[in-house]
Amino acid sequence: MSKQKDNTLNSQADDSDNEQHDTVDAPVLFYNDIVIEHFTNPHNVGELLPDETDGFALVGDPTCGDQMKLWIKVEDNTITDIRFKSFGCPGAIATSSMATDLAIGRTLEDAASLTDDDVIKALGGIPENKRHCSLLGITALQQAINDCLLKRMIEPE
Ligand code: FES
Repeated sequence: MSKQKDNTLNSQADDSDNEQHDTVDAPVLFYNDIVIEHFTNPHNVGELLPDETDGFALVGDPTCGDQMKLWIKVEDNTITDIRFKSFGCPGAIATSSMATDLAIGRTLEDAASLTDDDVIKALGGIPENKRHCSLLGITALQQAINDCLLKRMIEPE
């Protein structure tokens, strides 16, 4: 192998090492205490029974394969109960937990206006390379609300 080729390989290895440090070290080191608390003790985990469920969503992030199921119970146009199950990274679980906390007690219209930025702000921030994880919970919430509204159009209360 020529010396020039060796240098090229070393350069690629160095770049690769840097990328690995960015993705491997950052999430663990930079999650704040609120995020870690929601990841280790997520709120509103579980599922609602069919007769308690007014809206349901199953969403996935095609870039990483993470998935989330979310159920909502709605009374007088207000989300009175919410449950989720997630197959995902710490960021997905923490942001989904916070999204359910933010949604419960809100009207459907108010909950539908929640954004991933609202979730991240409530968590006190999240590593930049994990921001996309916050979309899982918010997308599931919005789809569950849409499911509820669609059911009401078909079968009004
Ligand atoms: Fe998939 Fe976080 S890496 S949602």
